[in-house]
Amino acid sequence: MKVTILVGTMTGTAQLCAQEMELALDDGETEVATLMMDGLDSSVFGRDGVFLICTSTYGQGDVPDNARALYEDLKSARPDLSRVRYGVFGLGDRTYAETFNFGGKRFDEILTDLGAKRIGERHMHDASSGILPEETALEWCQDWLAKAKETDTV
Ligand SMILES: Cc1cc2nc3c(=O)[nH]c(=O)nc-3n(C[C@H](O)[C@H](O)[C@H](O)COP(=O)(O)O)c2cc1C
Repeated sequence: MKVTILVGTMTGTAQLCAQEMELALDDGETEVATLMMDGLDSSVFGRDGVFLICTSTYGQGDVPDNARALYEDLKSARPDLSRVRYGVFGLGDRTYAETFNFGGKRFDEILTDLGAKRIGERHMHDASSGILPEETALEWCQDWLAKAKETDTV
């Protein structure tokens, strides 16, 4: 199975999580590519395999700056993503109660809207919990990959 991790980050935490997930998933049988969202557009979803959106939240519930172009392109180009399967590992902080984890939520909503199918539940890490997201990421992504394999019909 091929996995593309797409990283949206402002200060690098999501990138750290993506690195941990790449190490955990890349076992020879599973091929993992980690791409920063900078400069990407919706054509990235033409790649083979499944996608893992790993993004934080900024501003007032916005996607990080490096994720903005990709997010806006999905909304304006509206490609048919009915062949795409994805997961979301979101980072946020419950202190921002009104917009908690909206970065991941925004990607989840637009991808579903464009016909893509989510694998498993959207993860919502809470920075105020004191738990390091890169530790949660390891276990979460292994469960997620198992679900992706179970439901792989290709
Ligand atoms: C200026 C600022 C705004 C933020 N806004 C939100 C928000 O609206 N909702 C949320 O859940 N988290 C918010 N956060 C928390 C970040 O998403 C969280 O700290 C995350 O772990 C940062 O990850 P990154 O280093 O990959 O960008 C905000 C953080 C900062 C510094």
